[in-house]
Amino acid sequence: MYRTHSNGELRLTNVGQEVTLAGWVQKTRDKGFMMWVDLRDRYGITQLIFDEERTPKEMMDKAKTLGREFVIQVKGEVIERISKNKNIPTGEVEILVKELTILNGSIVPPFTIEDETDGGDELRMKYRYLDIRRAPVRDNLIFRHKVAIEVRKYLSDKGFIEVETPVLIKSTPEGARDFVVPSRMNEGQFYALPQSPQTFKQLLMVGGLDKYFQIVKCFRDEDLRADRQPEFTQIDCEMAFVEQEDILNAFEGLTRHLLKEINGVDVAEFPRMTYDEAMKKYGNDKPDIRFGMEFGELNEVAQHKEFSVFNNAELVVGMAVPGGSSYTRKEIDKLIEWVKRPQVGASGMVYVKCNEDGTFKSSVDKFYDQEDLTKWAEATGAKAGDLICILSGNTDKVRTQLSALRMELAERLGLRKPTEFAPLWVVDFPLLEWDEETKRYHAMHHPFTSPKPEDMALLDTDPGKVRANAYDMVLNGNEIGGGSIRIHDKATQALMFDHLGFTPEEAKEQFGFLMNAFEYGAPPHGGLAFGLDRLVAILGGQETIRDFIAFPKNNSGRDVMIDAPSKIDENQLKELNLKLDL
Ligand code: AMO
Repeated sequence: MYRTHSNGELRLTNVGQEVTLAGWVQKTRDKGFMMWVDLRDRYGITQLIFDEERTPKEMMDKAKTLGREFVIQVKGEVIERISKNKNIPTGEVEILVKELTILNGSIVPPFTIEDETDGGDELRMKYRYLDIRRAPVRDNLIFRHKVAIEVRKYLSDKGFIEVETPVLIKSTPEGARDFVVPSRMNEGQFYALPQSPQTFKQLLMVGGLDKYFQIVKCFRDEDLRADRQPEFTQIDCEMAFVEQEDILNAFEGLTRHLLKEINGVDVAEFPRMTYDEAMKKYGNDKPDIRFGMEFGELNEVAQHKEFSVFNNAELVVGMAVPGGSSYTRKEIDKLIEWVKRPQVGASGMVYVKCNEDGTFKSSVDKFYDQEDLTKWAEATGAKAGDLICILSGNTDKVRTQLSALRMELAERLGLRKPTEFAPLWVVDFPLLEWDEETKRYHAMHHPFTSPKPEDMALLDTDPGKVRANAYDMVLNGNEIGGGSIRIHDKATQALMFDHLGFTPEEAKEQFGFLMNAFEYGAPPHGGLAFGLDRLVAILGGQETIRDFIAFPKNNSGRDVMIDAPSKIDENQLKELNLKLDL
């Protein structure tokens, strides 16, 4: 037996017992006549003690050869420590070692295996297996496991069955580029890796499975960010014979269960907000509602004077920053510089200080009097002591810019508290989205999403105005899930493909299998998919999903540990009938 106990287990009640432990050498402290070793495994750290009086000489000598990350096994007696360490659960005891076996040596690791390491990101990724030995990374993986188990238990109890769908498939349009895999047996042909199991889960509904889920890898070749990886995991779900309301209730239930079980937090019924309202109030379709700072539109109270910047703008919109009236001129100038950075792109910012005495001081005092500014304060909900930040210009752009400022300031003001949870549903998304580059409409969610029946007539006259039975679940300013009620008849699906610019031949070639299935009694159905990585990160109080993935890719989509992607050799290329002209 390699060990009788783990390194997180022993307490005062074990004193006097003979135990065997195994693990990694976290650190050694050598006082010459006495030596301590911190022995680490997944479960914790236990202190080992060797001393001249009680330890035979050759074992003492052997102990002195131990280096960081050596793998050892020890047998010894649990004794009470003289100087106790209250910071760790095993801190009241230590092991007086009687036998020491070195199971494996280690060269010096490239960074310290401590909670706060000296290793930079790239180095930690290259030696991710060492990084995983560190408690914060290990705990994140354990946390992810707990969430996944809870999800499986909950959905299974509710009658969902987990079905695996294939990975070598044909393109599923979710808005990103496909990763493709050449087929050796079918010359010149390629599989696509699923961006999601969307079409398969719909076919499972046609197959009568009624309630499906799958914790599943998805692949998207898109630009990477803190909350995006090229391969990521969804909790993918679908239900038959449902309306939007049923789906919202089912998955609000799951999320509430997770918040309770994992975080011990009870949340009230999720607020619902239409897409239009979210854009108007927060400039964003995934608003963080842990704090206020809602937008106030100021066109009516700001376009009646000689200030041409506002008069020429499609939208004048402001937001109150709590306590911001105390910002110095320099601090405000910095904010203005911040919104003018190319990443944000505002052309400037007007501000109003709401003084404690009820008066106002603005950067546009030349044009506006106290009466005007009082109205601006009312429209933005600003109170004495606040600063109103105002942007103007093209509606969509200005909303996005003010939303960026809102999030930045909230972060700086400590309003984005990681232990507070504010979920909501954003509903009534537009069905279509105009793409300037290709000069055509794209499905905002995906082409299988059902338009709202009452908006169907607008499809021909004003397609951009058609709303969909599509919804996102938002948690703390992150889109953690999204879904829709699906089209389940061939005619509507064909109409949809037509509006998306597919010829009937193209639609048949790409999605004929789905259209065919719809001819054999497809039930009404709908569903949603959560981003598991995102959900786990946010429940864990963070936003960078990489920290919750065992072997993530870097921002260029590379796995720097195994060095992928990489070239393949000539023979393999030949077998795949691929020619590279590089
Ligand atoms: P959608 O494209 O909205 O919907 O994806 C669902 C959820 O997956 C997460 N997500 C990602 N997470 C990490 N890295 C990525 N690159 C990434 N892309 C998406 C998000 C998102 O909310 N088939 C539909 C679902 C449906 O209609 O049922 C779909 O995939 O959290």
